[in-house]
Amino acid sequence: MSRRESPLTPAPGVVVPAVLDETERREEVTLRPRELGEFIGQSELVGHLKIVLAAARERNQPSDHLLFAGPPGLGKTSLAAIVASEMGVALRITSGPVMSRPGDLAALLTDLQEGEVLFIDEIHRLHRSVEEVLYPAMEDRRLDVMIGRGPSARSVRLELPSFTLVGATTRTGLVAAPLRDRFGFVGRLDLYDNDDLAEIVRRSAGLLGVELDDGGAREVARRSRGTPRIANRLLRRVRDVAQVEGTSVVTTDVARRALLLFGVDERGLDKVDRRILGLLCEQFRGQPVGLVTLAHACGEEPATIEEAYEPYLIREGLLIRTPRGRVATQRAYEHLSLPVPGGGLL
Ligand SMILES: Nc1ncnc2c1ncn2[C@@H]1O[C@H](COP(=O)(O)OP(=O)(O)OP(=O)(O)O)[C@@H](O)[C@H]1O
Ligand SMILES: [Mg+2]
Repeated sequence: MSRRESPLTPAPGVVVPAVLDETERREEVTLRPRELGEFIGQSELVGHLKIVLAAARERNQPSDHLLFAGPPGLGKTSLAAIVASEMGVALRITSGPVMSRPGDLAALLTDLQEGEVLFIDEIHRLHRSVEEVLYPAMEDRRLDVMIGRGPSARSVRLELPSFTLVGATTRTGLVAAPLRDRFGFVGRLDLYDNDDLAEIVRRSAGLLGVELDDGGAREVARRSRGTPRIANRLLRRVRDVAQVEGTSVVTTDVARRALLLFGVDERGLDKVDRRILGLLCEQFRGQPVGLVTLAHACGEEPATIEEAYEPYLIREGLLIRTPRGRVATQRAYEHLSLPVPGGGLL
């Protein structure tokens, strides 16, 4: 069956988020790890997942429902595909916001084959009425559908095949508790350390046919904000520069020059990161700033700031969240070569 051979082939009516251009999107799919053994880092999560999947296989049953949570680009979608391939079943992909009516989810659920994996990306954005259809489906493999309208309407109960729901979210806090509780396993993905990222860069370079030495891999890794998707993106930019310059091997020096050219600084901060810190340090003069105000000043969505930018700035000790708002730390002032207000108390 062709869907089994290619677990990332979308089912009908499926939406794959297009955050990259077409060529890059295709490359990103090429670079996806296909099995757990290829998935680098997140060792605790991977260890737990191995046990959950091996036990399910031994029982000859689909795995329990799984929820993966963490910032964008850390491997949630990759893990969903890996779960399907490790279980030897097809993967159906959909996403929370595309299902506007309960019927949209019901159509997907009734189309599932025994044991298949249904992946719901951005599950925290499921419509309330759609979420309610999911509860009995997850718990008792039961679907209650209303047929007809008005006084002649009646409810019909359908039995569903056993299946595994894999949810992904960038915001665990926004997944309603009753939904979260119905997952047998919740895996949190953290930003990657530089050693793991360097290994990811080396693996991707091999797949893309880019020659790079250890220094080049470390340089790309160090500036990737703890995020494999960014590591892969930077690797492609570095490859472009090497190609244009006619250099065959990406060294530390080539990587450094290429990344500066594309506006990625020593710490891996891009323009938006620096704008966030610049606003906090200069325009708001070190005062705590609320998320919405900060987002407006940056021209970004509050959710983008919170999910995509803040985690790395916080991990790097450049920004802290206080009850009164976001504040830049002394390190941020130093990074931007600005004088630290009040002699540097943060
Ligand atoms: N552990 C890993 N090992 C190797 N490559 C990885 C790993 N995690 C992620 N990647 C790479 O990063 C890319 C992005 O990963 P993925 O799409 O799975 O992230 P995501 O968490 O689903 O992001 P989003 O929240 O934006 O949907 C993948 O194409 C893959 O190449
Ligand atoms: Mg994803």
